[in-house]
Amino acid sequence: MEKPKVLITRQLPDEILDSYRDRLEFDVWEDEHTPIPESMLKEKSRKVDGMLTMLTDPIDESLIRNSQNLKIVANLAVGYDNVDVHAAKKHGVAVTNTPDVLTETTADLTFGLLLSSARRIVEAQKYIEEGKWEHWSPLLLAGKEVHHKTIGIFGMGRIGEAVARRAKGFGMQILYHNRSRKTEAEETLGASYVSFDELLNQSDFVLSMAPLTEDTYHIFNKAAFEKMKSDAIFINTSRGKTMDEKALFDAVKSGVIAGAGLDVFENEPIDPSHPLLGLDQVVCLPHIGSASIETRHRMMELCLDNIVRCFEGKKLLTPVQ
Ligand code: DGY
Repeated sequence: MEKPKVLITRQLPDEILDSYRDRLEFDVWEDEHTPIPESMLKEKSRKVDGMLTMLTDPIDESLIRNSQNLKIVANLAVGYDNVDVHAAKKHGVAVTNTPDVLTETTADLTFGLLLSSARRIVEAQKYIEEGKWEHWSPLLLAGKEVHHKTIGIFGMGRIGEAVARRAKGFGMQILYHNRSRKTEAEETLGASYVSFDELLNQSDFVLSMAPLTEDTYHIFNKAAFEKMKSDAIFINTSRGKTMDEKALFDAVKSGVIAGAGLDVFENEPIDPSHPLLGLDQVVCLPHIGSASIETRHRMMELCLDNIVRCFEGKKLLTPVQ
């Protein structure tokens, strides 16, 4: 019997792919760093039964409509805002994502970004590299304390809760805002549910941990930053479009808030000349939230397991609809 043909839109390690070659035939875009051009993506998707996609691939209605044999899109991310899931449903194409396997790793990075921003770690490294360190001095690169401060988590999903567990270890007061109450987190972590405005004006660290939807687009805007404490730090490891980058730049530049730690941007990759990168109080990372080798391998395997199960007529492990 012919094996289902699967387009993989980025080069993945052979050690992962090899264990699936007996069940799937791959057409791999052999580039590890550059996304497949959109025209090529559309052309290739017409000839395959399944796709393993990246968050950089726009999977829109026209692609889905024109891909007659397509049965599944397995997206290598927990977020799936790059996929038109309604169109997929309409055309009978399954969509899967990679929750759970990346939760703790993304929470680690989020907390690392919070610590780096508060304690000026990146700025301190630059300080040494630029040959500025001549003496120890009492307030040299003195930053903000993290322990026992108040963390405000917007989006208390799996990753939000994992960040809250880390915050508990730092003796922090945990506030959260979410579509629904998380009673277990309230009981086990002592997290308190607050309104969005209360989250903004009571937190020392405000974290965007929510997926990008119509409701969360630019929810962190000028008005939101103005409600935050002037010594607060904003952290975003979910999606760049939850924040208005221009408003964030203005807020940090003018001292409306103290700083930011960002792993995601409105347009990725961020241009190296972007004004946000010129601010010492802003730590910027290239969307590496879940990027540990073990986690990325687990994400790849989860995508491939979903694809195999789809063609074997089995229940998908992590469907998004
Ligand atoms: C996700 O999974 O959505 C992250 O942004 C990438 O790991």
